[in-house]
Amino acid sequence: MSGRFRSSTRDIPEVSAVPRHVAVIMDGNGRWARKRLLPRVAGHKRGVEALRSVIRACMERGVEYLTVFAFSSENWRRPADEVSFLMQLFLNSLQKEVGRLHENGIRLRVVGDLSRFDAKLVEMIHASEARTAANTRFTLTVAANYGGRWDIMNAISRLMARHPGRSEAFTEDELACELSMHYAPEPDLFIRTGGETRISNFLLWQLAYTELHFTDVLWPDFDADALDEAITSYQQRERRFGRTSEQLQTTLQTRGDNA
Ligand code: IPE
Ligand code: IPE
Ligand code: MG
Repeated sequence: MSGRFRSSTRDIPEVSAVPRHVAVIMDGNGRWARKRLLPRVAGHKRGVEALRSVIRACMERGVEYLTVFAFSSENWRRPADEVSFLMQLFLNSLQKEVGRLHENGIRLRVVGDLSRFDAKLVEMIHASEARTAANTRFTLTVAANYGGRWDIMNAISRLMARHPGRSEAFTEDELACELSMHYAPEPDLFIRTGGETRISNFLLWQLAYTELHFTDVLWPDFDADALDEAITSYQQRERRFGRTSEQLQTTLQTRGDNA
């Protein structure tokens, strides 16, 4: 069985000029604050404002899915006061923003291991997802206590529970259907702000053929212009998915002739 979306390894996905799905590691909040002699958490607060404007810019440009890394499964290693500030900020932002998200036709999804969050936050997450579930204009996914390895392990456990005693091998498509982002196509464009050039255990499976864009801009400073720069860079890439450049040109030509 193949999923609703084309897998980049099992098939060749459609490629459009505007990335359909953008995934972002919103990094650099702490350094943004430190540069201004502010506490690190002031950077996280400004980070929420940056996210609001990037959602709007994505929608205006025709992006359909935006996925943002808000808290990794490794971020629990941070000082307790920063972790609790981030949890409170997540709760407050949901309370404050969900109405506006809904009015704008945005479906909100939260992916990650929610079991470590307190009950009030989990309740707010479920309520926000339920309220916006029928929206189809745009999907915002917040990855919270998310780890790419956790996601894959979780999918394997779910598959095994669904097929007890099965001896034949599972397929990529079967696994992909159990991943937390089964409802979205694989990301076309990945952006990491803040200057680091690593994946930090984000969407390991889904990034197999995603175009990567790294920028030194710190997340609170990331705006529509910075997004356009990333999209322009994306548009200059040749997405071959394993084929040769010549094969790709022939395919594009055939499509153009048929149009
Ligand atoms: C990203 O900004 C936000 C989270 C990880 C929650 P950082 O807090 O990692 O900022 P830097 O990398 O220390 O500047
Ligand atoms: C990645 O940023 C996670 C989020 C942005 C939520 P980190 O700042 O935690 O990543 P590392 O530790 O520099 O790899
Ligand atoms: Mg960081």
